[in-house]
Amino acid sequence: MSRFDPHSWCDADQPAQRHLDLELSVDFVARTLRGKVRLHLAQRAAGPLDLDARSLAIESVRNGSGAAIPWAIAESEPVRGDRLRVDLPAGTDLVEIVYTTAPGAVALGWLEPQQTAGGRHPFLFSQCQPIHARTIVPCQDTPRHRVTYDAAVTVPAPLRAVMSAGAAGETHDRHGRTTWRFRMPQAIPTYLLALAVGNLDRRDLGPRSCVYAEPETVERAAWEFAEVESMIASAETLFGPYEWDRFDLLLMPPAFPYGGMENPRLTFLTPTLLAGDRSQVNVVAHELAHSWTGNLVTNATMNDFWLNEGFTVYAERRILEEVYGKEYADLQGVVRRNALQVNLDHFGKGSPYTKLRTDLAGVDPDEVYSLVPYEKGAQFVLLVENAVGRARFDRFLRAYIDTFRFRSITTDEFLAFLEQELPGVYARVEGPRWVDGPDMPDNELPVVSARVDRVRSLAAGWACGARPTRDDVDAWSPTEWQLYLQDLPRQLGDGDCHWLDETFRLTKQGNYEVLVEWLTIAAGSNFAPALPRIREVLSSVGRMKYLKPLYTALMKNEATQAFAREVFAEAADSYHPLSKGAVAGIVKA
Ligand code: BES
Ligand code: ZN
Repeated sequence: MSRFDPHSWCDADQPAQRHLDLELSVDFVARTLRGKVRLHLAQRAAGPLDLDARSLAIESVRNGSGAAIPWAIAESEPVRGDRLRVDLPAGTDLVEIVYTTAPGAVALGWLEPQQTAGGRHPFLFSQCQPIHARTIVPCQDTPRHRVTYDAAVTVPAPLRAVMSAGAAGETHDRHGRTTWRFRMPQAIPTYLLALAVGNLDRRDLGPRSCVYAEPETVERAAWEFAEVESMIASAETLFGPYEWDRFDLLLMPPAFPYGGMENPRLTFLTPTLLAGDRSQVNVVAHELAHSWTGNLVTNATMNDFWLNEGFTVYAERRILEEVYGKEYADLQGVVRRNALQVNLDHFGKGSPYTKLRTDLAGVDPDEVYSLVPYEKGAQFVLLVENAVGRARFDRFLRAYIDTFRFRSITTDEFLAFLEQELPGVYARVEGPRWVDGPDMPDNELPVVSARVDRVRSLAAGWACGARPTRDDVDAWSPTEWQLYLQDLPRQLGDGDCHWLDETFRLTKQGNYEVLVEWLTIAAGSNFAPALPRIREVLSSVGRMKYLKPLYTALMKNEATQAFAREVFAEAADSYHPLSKGAVAGIVKA
């Protein structure tokens, strides 16, 4: 037996899956998927095959010729889930499993019509990263193995199904159901399997991109993301050809727990990005960057997750620099460095979760999700770039992507490649302190930006009476506002809150990054006039990036704890299982 991934039952001595044939039938009333999957194995084999599963009701397991195969849920762990062991008769290269998912399957968000923009149709979406694909299909749910897939998804008309795959036609039956077919020719790790079902329209954005959204939001989405082709073109000059044919976007309902998810060929995006000024496109740049760093070159296990997100944040900033200039990219960097500090303080000095390479055996990756792999990772990559110069680093990056494309690698494999291509650099940048040490090493590169300095000094002077003038703020972008608010004290007096809100109309902000930054201060200050807006945001938006700081700020004050619990009690049933779990941990409900 040789298990290599602490979050999967997959055994390296057993045959690997290569291709999935998936049939799914969506039942909005029961909140289940009835599924049939054919797992094609890399070679004919005999003996045990361990698959990952969680909360699946298995109905039958058969081989390619339809004969029943013995199977059992052999073992179960809280984080890993169920070990589904099937016993392959000699010569088996195909396993067919019929099953039904549970209504509480962690990967699935089932939305009532009132949680959508149109209000008339239900909506379903999946979120498989990091280890939730096993709640919708039994498989070797480790990023070390890749699969191609074909799928047929049957949904009630007039709903449309979309997946992280190419569309391959649809058929309508006489019972008012539509079967949507998909084909995914590029091999992906299972966490990139993705499905959404809803009343979806589409608008073309460019030669290889469109946006899917409900008819009520599709025009706004098309405007907000209109620049996507120029981002793809820039990314190609930086990182090499785009290998996934299409880069489509799917605008999710507000309950989506993340800002964006890089599902191949179809990035999922929160509607909180619709600021009306294209100021949140960094999220699109980020998910696009994953097309190279993450989806082409994948982390082998969640212990190596920083390879995925750290390189992607670095790549995201390179795209932003190309398309929007260095000033915007730098501002983004500073704002996210601030947010990283909040995570570092939360974990505490010396915490193992502040290392880039982690040991997450027995640990739920969702519970220790933070900006450490993102921003500490990106800082480390930047340090390497700085040590060898951009031209040489760009050649290294191309070689890295080229060498490991469509593969999944460990931190050790990356470090061996780094040493081979750029000998001595790892030691020179004190790499071991970054990769295997906790906290932020002190050789981090500073950001040099006059705009950043101006905003920061204004915020630092708050206690001594410094205030931004009209002229200051007229020139501020939303990101500068965000930075200013991040740097203000977490708790302000009523008079100060009133002044800020009345002068700058913050509670009425349409930009969620700015709004939530402000509402976090307001919540921490028990500023009563903002509470209705806080309640509104907490009851309609499921993005964890906003829920976590708001609930945390409310729970710091005894005066607002009851309010937080009351809002959560009302909103909990509408949250995605992931958001619900995260908030429950904060309000201790
Ligand atoms: N892949 C992540 C989202 C994710 C990570 C989901 C781990 C589940 C487990 C995605 O690329 C991401 O990082 N999204 C960010 C946006 C980004 C600009 C930092 C988000 O959702 O906020
Ligand atoms: Zn990411």
